[in-house]
Amino acid sequence: MFRVMVEVTMRKSRLLHLVFTVFVLLSFVNGGRAGMTSKFIRSEWPSIDIPLDNEAFAVPKGHNAPQQVHITQGDYDGKAVIISWVTPHEPGLSKVWYGTSQNKYDFTAEGKVTNYTFHKYKSGYIHQCLVDGLEYDTKYYYKIGSGDSSREFWFQTPPKVDPDASYKFGIIGDLGQTFNSLSTLEHYMHGEGQTVLFVGDLSYADRYQFNDVGIRWDSWGRFVERSAAYQPWIWSAGNHEIEFMPYMEEVIPFKSYLYRYPTPYLASKSSNPLWYAIRRASAHIIVLSSYSPFVKYTPQWVWLRDELKKVDREKTPWLIVLMHVPMYNSNEAHFMEGESMRSVFESWFIHYKVDVVFAGHVHAYERSYRVSNINYNISSGDRYPVSDKSAPVYITVGDGGNQEGLAGRFRDPQPDYSAFREASYGHSTLEIKNRSHAIYHWNRNDDGKKVPTDSFVLHNQYWGNNLRRRKLKKHNLRGAGGLATTR
Ligand SMILES: [Fe+2]
Repeated sequence: MFRVMVEVTMRKSRLLHLVFTVFVLLSFVNGGRAGMTSKFIRSEWPSIDIPLDNEAFAVPKGHNAPQQVHITQGDYDGKAVIISWVTPHEPGLSKVWYGTSQNKYDFTAEGKVTNYTFHKYKSGYIHQCLVDGLEYDTKYYYKIGSGDSSREFWFQTPPKVDPDASYKFGIIGDLGQTFNSLSTLEHYMHGEGQTVLFVGDLSYADRYQFNDVGIRWDSWGRFVERSAAYQPWIWSAGNHEIEFMPYMEEVIPFKSYLYRYPTPYLASKSSNPLWYAIRRASAHIIVLSSYSPFVKYTPQWVWLRDELKKVDREKTPWLIVLMHVPMYNSNEAHFMEGESMRSVFESWFIHYKVDVVFAGHVHAYERSYRVSNINYNISSGDRYPVSDKSAPVYITVGDGGNQEGLAGRFRDPQPDYSAFREASYGHSTLEIKNRSHAIYHWNRNDDGKKVPTDSFVLHNQYWGNNLRRRKLKKHNLRGAGGLATTR
């Protein structure tokens, strides 16, 4: 009996070893030059928005009960959150009760309330409350609203900024509010993602007219609350947030978005909520706006130049950039729309060794090799992207599942810079293990199941350097030796 058990255990461990070896081998294969276009194209549901009376948009019970609750990071390093919610009928209290044990709220924070009009639509009362001075790596419970209409939620603060802090991010883009969107959201929530990096195009409310624009922003707020009330969503804006609608006399770009989805832009000395940076665990995350000026000398250009100088890879080894329009995209949809930003910022990404750039906009999935196209100039030089070890990996995750449907036509042949592409709905996760390694997955929505489809080990661009790796090893050995002698 014992021998049988030992054999089973050994067989299991051999199998595990084999699976791990294949995974590592595959990650090397991915580093090769053979791009792959997956033929798998599936949209589980038609690309139409979920009806407003569906329970996915359920209004919480109680008079004037807070709804559309969502949180985002509230400072530079993760010791604060901004909590937002809407009360539909009256302003009510703009107060958050919070603490570290359930139903026992030792602290309060006072926020502010605002509202806006969009054509003849009048928004509910939008509350925003900064809760700061939090402890790292701690679960907080919070309560908003009053009496029978009050509601309770919780969130977990990140670990202190530290080069080896492990952390799991989810990446979602172009979400919208269809049944495909719901599938993406539910699949993400079944994983263990701790914070969402959102790459633009939130509600697709701009596909509607007149009062329905505001109404669909409200339904989207209730839709994402199931995740966004419990963990921060790091926002970036897309073209569907612009909402330039002169026929309705609405001409202020990003108006609904800016009223509803605050960002901690002042903490990174940005002058505009549309571009900013945060540090979280071992990552420095830079959010850019594809639809604001970024050419030389403009505020976003100046801010990014200064922010990149502040990045300290000894403290935050992982440098991640979010934007809406991809710089490397081989889909017919939105082909080359990212060229203007690429021509301005790509050389900085190479110089500062950005690890990964996440974008959306194209309703399909695509991952690039590490390539750059910075040698081209208008009078001479290479015209084609070349392999570049200092370049980021560019990943497009615009496949959240909105009402515009999938972008199913990729350019043929697949360009050399494109490593893997597939026109299916899904989301990604980036699981940072330590300063040198992270595991990345793209999870396709496949018939109601989350199917990890594209995976690889991401080696850190800063700590992957041989000299630094050797130094770190030496340091660790010295540390281990020191421990041994004190015993
Ligand atoms: Fe877009």
